[in-house]
Amino acid sequence: MSQTQAFEVQIKSTGLVITIPEDCSVVEALSFEGIEIPTSCAQGICGTCLTRVVEGVPDHRDQYLTPQEQAANDQFLPCCSRALCARLVLDL
Ligand code: FES
Repeated sequence: MSQTQAFEVQIKSTGLVITIPEDCSVVEALSFEGIEIPTSCAQGICGTCLTRVVEGVPDHRDQYLTPQEQAANDQFLPCCSRALCARLVLDL
């Protein structure tokens, strides 16, 4: 799936569920809820925003993780990457 679609992110520590609109990155949508993930490049290159994924399958759109790291599906770069499933649970 290469289309951009809305999906949900759940924050593991609080249970909060946030909808990520199709025109908004995970970092942006979480920021609107007061959850700040540090970023630098915002293009999937630097790795600053690296976040652990507890459940769900990320749609990796970064150039930072190796193919093997992407395939493990236990971390992603939320400045650019999205989801291949309805909900990602993040270790935040
Ligand atoms: S901010 Fe650089 S990879 Fe996300």
